[in-house]
Amino acid sequence: MSETAGTTFVDVQALRHSEFPWTEETGAIYLNCASTGPLPECARRAIFEHLARACNPNHEFYDEHREIPSESRRLCAEFIGAQPDEIALGFNTTYGLNLAATALPLERGDRVLLLDGDFPANVYPWLNLERRGIQVEFVPCDERGLPNEAGMFERLAQGDIRVLSVSAVSFSNGYRLDLDAISRECQRHGTYLVVDGIQALGVVPIDVSTTRIDVLASGGQKWLLSPQGSGFAYVRRDLIDRLDPVGVGWLGFEASQDYAELCNYALDPLESAARFELGSLAFASLHAFNHSLSLLRELGVPGIEGHVRAVQQPLIDWVEARGDLEWMSDLSQERRSGILAFRSPEPERLGERLRAAGITVSIRQGGVRVSVHAFNCREEIAKLISVLEAALER
Ligand SMILES: Cc1ncc(COP(=O)(O)O)c(C=O)c1O
Repeated sequence: MSETAGTTFVDVQALRHSEFPWTEETGAIYLNCASTGPLPECARRAIFEHLARACNPNHEFYDEHREIPSESRRLCAEFIGAQPDEIALGFNTTYGLNLAATALPLERGDRVLLLDGDFPANVYPWLNLERRGIQVEFVPCDERGLPNEAGMFERLAQGDIRVLSVSAVSFSNGYRLDLDAISRECQRHGTYLVVDGIQALGVVPIDVSTTRIDVLASGGQKWLLSPQGSGFAYVRRDLIDRLDPVGVGWLGFEASQDYAELCNYALDPLESAARFELGSLAFASLHAFNHSLSLLRELGVPGIEGHVRAVQQPLIDWVEARGDLEWMSDLSQERRSGILAFRSPEPERLGERLRAAGITVSIRQGGVRVSVHAFNCREEIAKLISVLEAALER
């Protein structure tokens, strides 16, 4: 660990060496966790070892099919300040968002509020309810194209919104919502709060023990540095019995816990949120997920966040100094996340130049989106800036 301004941050060189050795071996610069996060070595080893056991399965291997998910539920819960029995494992973010959309007690005429500009994973499950007579409304973005929290509060204050579903961090500009204020407002108006956490978890803390959220959904494949096929939904304890899912899985029932007697078919759902899981899970992915979550827990999200801000700073200074690029991100401390995005002329061409230089970023919504995580360092940002500088000169 290193000390900067009194805060303990990540020892990035040690982390790169042990968990992301390709950063040293290839010199590739990966600034794209908002798209997909790289697997750390511990997760890579875990998944390969699991797959090797899958080639020659035995009873111990079958035991893992119970142990791995139960460890995932424990680690996910710990990560967000929940209890393990409030976690349902799924395959991505979409799983949890659909669970919320289809299982919350909504009736014809109820209204759902979304933010314009949100990622489509948090839009289609709700639009799909319009067939059932549920009305979906969007809060338009503000004049800078950012999520409009003031507009959202105004709309909530009318008191007729049944569900608000938001992304904790915007995929395109990294805008971090004030979830505490939103949660308080939702409680005041009797509105269910559903949160898509995938662009936050791993780099921006979310704590459901202090911020009341009804359903939180996240895949593991971005800032949680985990394989595709890993993910979870948190369901607030008091809600578990009130959710009425459209689909159920055989492992979600008490009667299926004894594999020797599977044909009792008693309709006795588990007490816990695991009742919402849909049958066999992606065990190999979850095994790696567990290792990544443990690594992130060891690093500590506050330390990661401090590190990310320090690494982002030279990019912020450079954009500010140039004056010809326009921020898409809000740079105020409380709105910052792992994502910085700026508009530039010909963003696609810049993307090509960066790609040719071995630097991976994303081009989204007309801007360059740069993601910084624990394994990135200032030298990489310096290289990014020099390639951008040259590309902008042509
Ligand atoms: C805010 C947000 N939600 C969800 C997703 C992905 O959803 P899923 O994990 O279901 O593929 C993304 C990005 O791909 C995203 O940026």
